[in-house]
Amino acid sequence: MKIYVPMDSAAKALGADEVAAAIVAEAARRGLAVELVRNGTRGMVWLEPLVEVETGDGRLAFGPVTPEDVPALLDGTLQGLGPVEGIPFFARQTRLTFARCGVTDPLSLRDYEAHGGLAGLRRALGMTSAEIVQEVTDSGLRGRGGAGFPTGIKWNTVLGAGAGQKYIVCNADEGDSGTFADRMIMEGDPFTLIEGMVIAGVGVGATRGFVFLRSEYPDAIKVMAAAVQIARDAGLLGPDVLGSGRAFDIEVRVGAGAYVCGEETSLLNALEGKRGVVRAKPPLPALEGFLGRPTVVNNVISLATVPVIFEKGAAHYADFGLGRSRGTVTLQIAGNVARGGLFETAFGMSLGELVMDVAGGTATGRPVKAVQVGGPLGAYMPVSKFDTALGYEDFDAAGGLIGHAGLVVFDDTTDMLGMARFAMEFCAVESCCKCTPCRVGAVRGVETIDRIARGDAAAVPILTDLCETMKLGSLCALGGFTPFPVLSALTHFPDDFATRKEAAE
Ligand code: NAI
Ligand code: SF4
Repeated sequence: MKIYVPMDSAAKALGADEVAAAIVAEAARRGLAVELVRNGTRGMVWLEPLVEVETGDGRLAFGPVTPEDVPALLDGTLQGLGPVEGIPFFARQTRLTFARCGVTDPLSLRDYEAHGGLAGLRRALGMTSAEIVQEVTDSGLRGRGGAGFPTGIKWNTVLGAGAGQKYIVCNADEGDSGTFADRMIMEGDPFTLIEGMVIAGVGVGATRGFVFLRSEYPDAIKVMAAAVQIARDAGLLGPDVLGSGRAFDIEVRVGAGAYVCGEETSLLNALEGKRGVVRAKPPLPALEGFLGRPTVVNNVISLATVPVIFEKGAAHYADFGLGRSRGTVTLQIAGNVARGGLFETAFGMSLGELVMDVAGGTATGRPVKAVQVGGPLGAYMPVSKFDTALGYEDFDAAGGLIGHAGLVVFDDTTDMLGMARFAMEFCAVESCCKCTPCRVGAVRGVETIDRIARGDAAAVPILTDLCETMKLGSLCALGGFTPFPVLSALTHFPDDFATRKEAAE
């Protein structure tokens, strides 16, 4: 009997380790031969711990499972959810980047290869650097960290930056509220990130890579470190990658917990052992990055998507999507929501379909008031904007941003003035303090919102002015994008700002 229990940290937080231990104990008590695989998660967090039992008819899902359910699970009498692929939330997805996550044993390279792993790298090793970069360009892949910059163009800049030492830096400092795609893929399919980084290295002529991983992800750190060692032992990393004569190796470096170190230049400073302060751009990291050398800085999901592009071809990937947003988007649904988790789909689905239909509205059953898309720097999208299609340009036109594709759902009891205040407070706490609009502006922003809360209507234009200054004058996205949540709350939910005033009067 083969049973899968996720080792993903969200599943563990919900009791997966206890369920796994109960399965081992109960099987031993019964003298039953059970092969227990600790897989990654399928991403349906509301069903975790989601246990799968392999049968002649495929893998049957059960969840959420408790240790008390285990005897019935082994008896075959526990009420299940049917084949995992048949669960509507899962069945509606297009899984390219996350195709293996939850399916395989994350630390089995053999399992990885049996499910299409390394096919992309083997193909890339037969191509020239220019052909590799062209393939990424043709796929239409854009940076999944938030800015959506075309990955092929970034790689091309590094490729063209002359000879000498170059680097691939993976930004795994996933700090946005409500986001977890980077963590899930690192815990559930780490070899896909490693393979993507090797392809990037071979493509641009870099021989060393770093994964800058946030300290708040202890499980991901362990899995990535173990996967790197396994890859090295198997010759996937090292002086002669898969016998190709090309060299590439990876080091996992752990961050110290600053949100701003998710910004690429402060990340590079931290990686160099310096304080995580933002650098002015130019020079671009692509030309002067880690230790002043040409560096590709890409998000986890961007790099983890590269193998499937090479395995199936750029045209296959580019075939999905909407307008200039090609391929799939790995949405992370969180907050006050009935069905939260990882949902990978081609760009193009509307925000409303995703929140109301796929995710089932709020967990409280109350009406949705707003959805913050794109992390703490993303706009609050009201229900009136639910027809906005998930695409970089569509969201931009609607005054929002997709960012790292995290969605946090709020019901109608949410106080939007409080949320606007939180955005300013967050910026004040996390600011690297290099530039004045952010360092001083965020503190003044909190004070100004407090004045509005006390009923001072004259403070509203001061707040909008301040936001304009922060947008135009900040050196990086932290100060520059904080106005998005603040102004969207003010614009779409004016009553929440006015009620305070009336109450004060
Ligand atoms: P950006 O627009 O300045 O740059 C985007 C990327 O393109 C950078 O890597 C930049 O170096 C590169 N680039 C630009 N021109 C280039 C060229 N000609 N050649 C090569 N590379 C070039 O945006 P930034 O400040 O890097 O990122 C802002 C985004 O980060 C926001 O959209 C926000 O949503 C997101 N973000 C994500 C977080 C997360 O946890 N993933 C946290 C905070 C913000
Ligand atoms: Fe630092 Fe804020 Fe300026 Fe960014 S906007 S450089 S975080 S002070």
